[in-house]
Amino acid sequence: MSTRRFPEGFLWGVAAASYQVEGAAGEDGRGPSIWDTFSHTPGKVLHGHTGDVSVDQYHRYPEDAALMRDLGVGAYRFSIAWPRVQPAGSGAFNELGFDYYKRLADELHGAGLKAVATLYHWDLPQALEDAGGWPMRDTAMRFADYAAETFSRLGDHIDMWITMNEAWCSSVLGYHIGAHAPGRQDRSASWAAGHHLLLAHGLSVQAYRAGGGGAAGAAPIGITHNLETPHPATNRTEDAEAADRAMDMRTRFFLDPIIGKGYPRRHFDAYPGETPPPIETGDMETIASPVDFLGLNFYFEPTLAAAPVGQDGEVRDGVACHPEEFREVPTHHERTEMDWPVTPRGLYRHLKRVWEHIGGAVPLYITENGCAMPDELSADGLRCHDPRRVAYLREHFAAAADAIADGVDLRGYFVWSLIDNFEWAYGYTKRFGIVYADYVNQRRVPKDSYYYLRGVISGAEPV
Ligand code: FCB
Repeated sequence: MSTRRFPEGFLWGVAAASYQVEGAAGEDGRGPSIWDTFSHTPGKVLHGHTGDVSVDQYHRYPEDAALMRDLGVGAYRFSIAWPRVQPAGSGAFNELGFDYYKRLADELHGAGLKAVATLYHWDLPQALEDAGGWPMRDTAMRFADYAAETFSRLGDHIDMWITMNEAWCSSVLGYHIGAHAPGRQDRSASWAAGHHLLLAHGLSVQAYRAGGGGAAGAAPIGITHNLETPHPATNRTEDAEAADRAMDMRTRFFLDPIIGKGYPRRHFDAYPGETPPPIETGDMETIASPVDFLGLNFYFEPTLAAAPVGQDGEVRDGVACHPEEFREVPTHHERTEMDWPVTPRGLYRHLKRVWEHIGGAVPLYITENGCAMPDELSADGLRCHDPRRVAYLREHFAAAADAIADGVDLRGYFVWSLIDNFEWAYGYTKRFGIVYADYVNQRRVPKDSYYYLRGVISGAEPV
């Protein structure tokens, strides 16, 4: 039997995000966000699904808190919808919006959980996108105001703050690839967006430190990234170089400025057509404002090989070209319903590499990990079997425990997600929950993975 253990005080949690679970899109003065606009635009989200109702957590949070209490987790990571607390993204704040997050935090505390709040999980107020969105510097200034106000209003309710969730997704999927809101396709705008997201992070950390950050100002503050530490497809030098090159865009661009190393110059030097981000004096110091932890979202480790440089869609000598000199190659791994490879040892390598890259500067948290897998609801509707999710979690927990044993200061682990929800451009077609959501009658059914996680937390299940 395995002797793996998680340290005393290890923080187990589950995670979700405002637009994915809240619903109540038009209630209590909430303004529209870019995800409302995007999901209501035909052709953008599968089947035309929207977050208008979702799993209605805005009204059902007491039931969800009870589920978390029974699960035994120590924390819930949720996000604050900026347009709920500041409908136009500038100017007036909405008291009813703050009230909701106070009620939610109180309910969590009553259930014995910590409230871990993300300030930005992608729902930019539409009015700010109309003014240019994240490629505009002013959006970072608006975010700093929103953050400062939120720290002072909710500071005594929140136990841990995360400024941004996955700036790569907001900038690259939102402004370059266009698969996420606001759906723009402009490569240089996406680098500007990336810079302004990081700047917004830095400004908000400064505001937090300056304002004392609520009750005691003692709640830690950090940022969550979806970094990548790709695996080279072969041990040929060009594949190893391609995997390293990918790290510039997926890891170094977003992580290095946070730890005071600046942007990876090589990336912009290598591509003559690439526009470097619009950095102004003092920006890099602001972005490097010290954080208390780094949050990592991990789903899989990509396997990359060198590719001829060319435009997306161009084929040379039978090989698809890529502007970035690398391409993902198919592997033998099991795949999830997102078509993501299941690579638990990749999590071990990821934690080790990120930990080494930051020189052990701050503790790490896994702020998201989980998978979309087939679920089988029992005939009586009371149980939901998801053996592949149980196996996925088991293997990833083991990898995390091994990384801790090998010296990585990993303090907590948040499973994505508490409950099935609106999976962005995939709508409700991908289920990541450890609780099954019946979208017709809002019934919640804990899956086998929920009971498995409960066993891991209580110590009944070996890791
Ligand atoms: C991450 C997002 C999260 C969820 C998972 C599956 O990139 O942060 O909201 O959609 O993927």
